[in-house]
Amino acid sequence: MKQIIILGSTGSIGASTLDIIQRFPDQFSVLGLVAGKSDDKLEQQIRMFKPKIVALSDAPAAKRLRDRLDDPTVQVLEGPEGIKEVACHPESDLVISAIVGAAGLVPTLAAIQAGRRVALANKEPMVMAGQLMQEEAHRQGQPIFPIDSEHSAIFQSLVGHRREDVRRIILTASGGPFWDFTYEQMKDATLEKALKHPNWDMGAKITIDSATLMNKGLEVIEARWLFDCPPSQLDIVVHRESIIHSLVEYCDGSVMAQLGLPDMRTPISYAMNFPERVLLDPPPLNLWNYGKLTFYQPDTKRFPCLRLAYEALEGGGTLPAVLNAANEIAVDAFLNNGITFIDIAHVIEKTLDAANPQTLTSLDDALEADRWAREKAESCIHSLAS
Ligand SMILES: NC(=O)c1ccc[n+]([C@@H]2O[C@H](COP(=O)([O-])OP(=O)(O)OC[C@H]3O[C@@H](n4cnc5c(N)ncnc54)[C@H](OP(=O)(O)O)[C@@H]3O)[C@@H](O)[C@H]2O)c1
Repeated sequence: MKQIIILGSTGSIGASTLDIIQRFPDQFSVLGLVAGKSDDKLEQQIRMFKPKIVALSDAPAAKRLRDRLDDPTVQVLEGPEGIKEVACHPESDLVISAIVGAAGLVPTLAAIQAGRRVALANKEPMVMAGQLMQEEAHRQGQPIFPIDSEHSAIFQSLVGHRREDVRRIILTASGGPFWDFTYEQMKDATLEKALKHPNWDMGAKITIDSATLMNKGLEVIEARWLFDCPPSQLDIVVHRESIIHSLVEYCDGSVMAQLGLPDMRTPISYAMNFPERVLLDPPPLNLWNYGKLTFYQPDTKRFPCLRLAYEALEGGGTLPAVLNAANEIAVDAFLNNGITFIDIAHVIEKTLDAANPQTLTSLDDALEADRWAREKAESCIHSLAS
């Protein structure tokens, strides 16, 4: 029986992970759960999955939960220290890292440092401090398992092959809801339309990232560290149907790809069961239902966030952490109707231009870059409004 901890259990990845656990009660049990402030949802999950330990980042929400549960068998912690304690719990067999955004960095890195096995959906920490996370994972002898569908596809396409034979890693991108829009049309892109992803049902932040294509930029940076792959070997192809989840090209011209219907339970269960597979029993992938699959080159003119992500990756050091923080602030402002869709890229570009990137040698370097960039991005948003 594998004991699972889920950081971000009340989110979209968290729910899919719990769905798998529920289907395989003889193989998995829930040891710990972490969320932000959704005490109601967490309470339901506690009653159903009976974890030993849980944490909420929001202290008043944790207090409400403690009062309602009134159950001495469940430890309810709060704040960053409480979350770290759950993430590092010594009895866990696997930590699913699925908090959204930079908030996942400290607990995910702490879990790796504590020698825990980690499966990573939360891409932002890899963007901010991928090198540090991988160095620590190597030190602990515990590889980080990818959950992002593209990275899981790459991981699956690498199994059984020599790393030195890889010529190129190609990430697929759906192109999001505005792929067919002109830049002029994107000026009027509404929040409602941006939140309608053509193929995947995900949390709000990643859905907006998919619409700007920043999600693909973050994934390229994530792939750089997860697969120790230089940026020159990382490519993107826009593939509207999201059936091919990514590809690996080898030096003899062979290209390995992983295909499947878009369902996050497939990559999550692969990370949970590696190297085995379990019977999820999804509907069959009948390619004749599609007739044709389509592919396009990415367009960094209409989707400047992609260019900015590549520039941050090339710049290195603390620049990816600056990119990530500016993006989080800009997306949050868009979600709250504070800026327009195309302003997201403007805010990130202005923040990156003002940055003074440093070498990344410690967690503190990443956190300081994150703090600085959030302040800078906020001030860019204020100057847009005035
Ligand atoms: N959804 C997907 O299909 C998908 C696919 C690939 C990768 N990912 C990545 O996986 C991560 C999660 O995505 P998602 O779509 O599942 O997001 P989501 O639905 O928005 O869920 C986010 C989770 O993080 C928790 N959270 C937020 N802030 C927190 C904090 N400060 N401390 C502790 N927990 C906090 C939320 O708790 P509350 O409910 O209390 O706010 C929730 O449980 C993201 O990094 C995303 O890029 C997602």
